[in-house]
Amino acid sequence: MSSELAKIMNFPSHPVEFFKQILQAANKGKPAGSIQEMNLATVDEEFGVLNRTVLYRGLTRDNFVFYITHRYTRNFKNLQANPNKAGITFYWTNVRDSDGKESTWQVRLIGATAVQLPESELDALWAKEDLAAKIRGHICPCGQPIDHDELKTKHDQFLQEHLASGKPIPRPDSYTAFKFEPQRWDFLNVAINQIADRVQYRLQANGQWESMHVST
Ligand SMILES: Cc1cc2nc3c(=O)[nH]c(=O)nc-3n(C[C@H](O)[C@H](O)[C@H](O)COP(=O)(O)O)c2cc1C
Repeated sequence: MSSELAKIMNFPSHPVEFFKQILQAANKGKPAGSIQEMNLATVDEEFGVLNRTVLYRGLTRDNFVFYITHRYTRNFKNLQANPNKAGITFYWTNVRDSDGKESTWQVRLIGATAVQLPESELDALWAKEDLAAKIRGHICPCGQPIDHDELKTKHDQFLQEHLASGKPIPRPDSYTAFKFEPQRWDFLNVAINQIADRVQYRLQANGQWESMHVST
């Protein structure tokens, strides 16, 4: 039996730089085009809180995490109703550091405000969606009970008509994206038989990030 305290060393002064470093280490060796998920928590009128997995789509030009959704989802409705009450978690195990040591990372965006991306940016994002995602955007009533056979008929018909038309699938009005502006970034690191260390970056009134170790 052994026990030690983890210590996060040499972290950059900007949290997004730190996030990029961890993301890169976590995805090292994965095939190009692998997906990266994140967990998004929102305030929900019916359930109080609601979380779900969404795809991390990268960073906006102004360096904020963003994702894509449809206006008919609860996550959209929740963020529209309470844009400044969002939380995001990333979690990776077996991340190798530069010495080859494996550890677990949790990265959280705390107290985040969700800001919709402008319409002008959506066409380029839509163009990159795969075919199934494009069809889903047109045929799926998110969260409603469905009859599988009926939905399959609808899907197959949509696909056939699309292939026969030879035209691109238009971007539905429901398609949208949000970026997240957090008040805090929280990085937790731990390995086997360790007590975790956390580094937290807190946004100051002057727009600067203050960073500190915080207890787990
Ligand atoms: C791997 C994975 C990726 C997902 N990515 C997204 C996404 O990027 N956007 C999204 O709205 N839902 C995504 N979903 C579906 C959500 O988890 C959720 O089921 C859906 O958005 C409905 O959630 P709601 O309760 O907010 O309406 C994904 C699910 C999985 C398992």
